[in-house]
Formats: sequence, structure tokens, C-alpha cells
Amino acid sequence: MTIELILEQVKSVIPVIQINNIEDALPTARALYEGGLDSLEVTLRTPCALDAIQLIKQEIPEVCVGAGTVVTPEQLQLVKDAGAEFAVSPGLNANLVLVAKQIELPYLPGVMTPSEITLAMELGLKTLKFFPAEQAGGLKMLSALASPFADIRFCPTGGISKENYEDFLALDNVICVGGSWLAPKKLVKGEKWKKITDLARDVVGSRE
Ligand code: 3PG
Repeated sequence: MTIELILEQVKSVIPVIQINNIEDALPTARALYEGGLDSLEVTLRTPCALDAIQLIKQEIPEVCVGAGTVVTPEQLQLVKDAGAEFAVSPGLNANLVLVAKQIELPYLPGVMTPSEITLAMELGLKTLKFFPAEQAGGLKMLSALASPFADIRFCPTGGISKENYEDFLALDNVICVGGSWLAPKKLVKGEKWKKITDLARDVVGSRE
């Protein structure tokens, strides 16, 4: 499986989730899945993130689980061992690209500048996360990158919301978007699973 195939199969949006308590992992993934989203990214920002990846993959195998905030080569192996089907990084690092290739883990590193994009191209990549999307120039920046980098497709993440995700998806060089707005920490903390399902359903409904 390649990262391109995985991103083409997601329903336009990858929910980015941070699991603070392992008890929240399954209800969050189920809520999103019930809303029609069958891919998600668990960020490695909490001690239980690896357990959350493992648990979601084990209990809801239909869901394509990725790992986010991967910043070291060791984490690439750890997330793969936990069952992650793809990994995402906020930045670009040649060693991580190499290790992901070696262990055959589909990988989406982040870029923000033309120089980083050319480096990614040199490393053989064509599909990149654009991060932090809104803060780095958002729609205007992505449009400006389209002419010089016609072959590169982006998954913008960072500052994407219910209000702007469709504008990003309308760009030709955007393959999908990622964001935490579908499972906000407040709703997870309050166990408002139905509300998370409704947020996912809104997205899926608007793409049909
Ligand atoms: C992140 O790494 O924080 C993700 O890209 C999500 O960003 P968001 O919380 O702004 O959606």
C-alpha cells in the first residue's frame, strides 16, 4: 500500500485525534466510524497513544489507523508494531523518509516551504502534508505552490475547520485534509460521542 492509495481512499478528511485516556480511544473511533469516516490519525502526544492505535486496530479493524506527530525513526517502528497503517510527521527529515521506506510503512511527512518541497521531491516523494496549513498561508499559499510544483499533492493540516475544509478540498493540488475539529478535546472529555458522529456525518454528507 502507498500513502497515495491510502489518502485517495479516505473520505476527503482525516480526523486527527489526541487520546488522553485510553478509555476514550474506542468510543472516539467508533463515533467517527458511525458517522462514516473510516480513517483516522492518532497523534503521539500522549503516553497512551500507542496503546490507542493498537486497541482501535484490534477492535475496529475496518478503520484505517494512522499515527501522527511521528518525529523520530524509532517511533516509525513503534507505530508500525502497534498496527498503524500509515505515519504522519509535522516536518521533513531524510532519515525518517528512509526508515519509513525500509520498514514499508506508508509515510506522509510535513512541509511548509518551497525548499522543503524540493527536498521531499529529491527524496522521491510526491504527496506531502502541508503544515501548519492556515498559519503557513492557507489557500493562497497552496494555490501559489500549484504552478511550480504541479506534480505535488498536499494534505493540508493545522487550522482546518468545519468552515474552511471544503475550500481546501476544492484546490486541485489537495488530495485530502486533516484536522482535529471532528473530535474536539471538549467533546471527547464530555463523552459526547453522538456529537462527534454528527460532525463526521456532516463531512461525509457534504462530500456525497
Ligand atoms: C496537528 O498536528 O495539530 C494537526 O495537524 C491538527 O491540527 P488542528 O488541531 O489545527 O486541526
